Amino acid sequence: SAESLARAESLIRTIPDYPEPGVLFRDITPLLADRDALRATIDAMIEPFEGRFDVVAGVEARGFILAGAAAIAAGVGLVPIRKAGKLPRPAASVSYELEYGTATIECHDDIAPGTRVLLIDDVLATGGTLVAAHELVARLGAEVVGTTVLMELEALGGRALVGDVHAVFTA
Ligand code: PRP
Ligand code: HPA
Repeated sequence: SAESLARAESLIRTIPDYPEPGVLFRDITPLLADRDALRATIDAMIEPFEGRFDVVAGVEARGFILAGAAAIAAGVGLVPIRKAGKLPRPAASVSYELEYGTATIECHDDIAPGTRVLLIDDVLATGGTLVAAHELVARLGAEVVGTTVLMELEALGGRALVGDVHAVFTA
């Protein structure tokens, strides 16, 4: 309900100067710890895509938490998108720019071509992570039918890069 979602939003904690000076960090762990807030948030993340995806793909590490809950709520499986070097048989690998340096994410080939994938992460910031995740899934021949996040940090402009993304909360 709108009431549960409003309460969930109030549980997102803002931490100044973490992980470095000048950053206003949005900490979702109090929301995760609350049964009703977690349920309402997961439902709101998947609701626009109901019945239109066969599997969820979650981005390590915080995206895994939401993707696991979303998979059970939607009754679908989960494919993990991991940081480089963590999967024993990566089938695809995509590198992307971070504020300083680059990062690489990888995925196993456990989604058949044509599989409808819902991409899940906790936060959309600059958008680099979700663009790379989209590219990764596309390289496996699967179809990204949607991208959903718990929270979009509007000031960082990620939407311009990622395109169509559903965000339950914005800051
Ligand atoms: C954070 C967050 C997103 C990403 C968003 O992950 O969980 O995945 O950054 O940033 P972007 O839109 O600028 O790419 P992080 O790489 O800190 O990893 P973690 O989940 O392991 O903490
Ligand atoms: N909170 C959580 N994750 C993030 C943030 C934030 O403020 N910025 C980039 N990733």
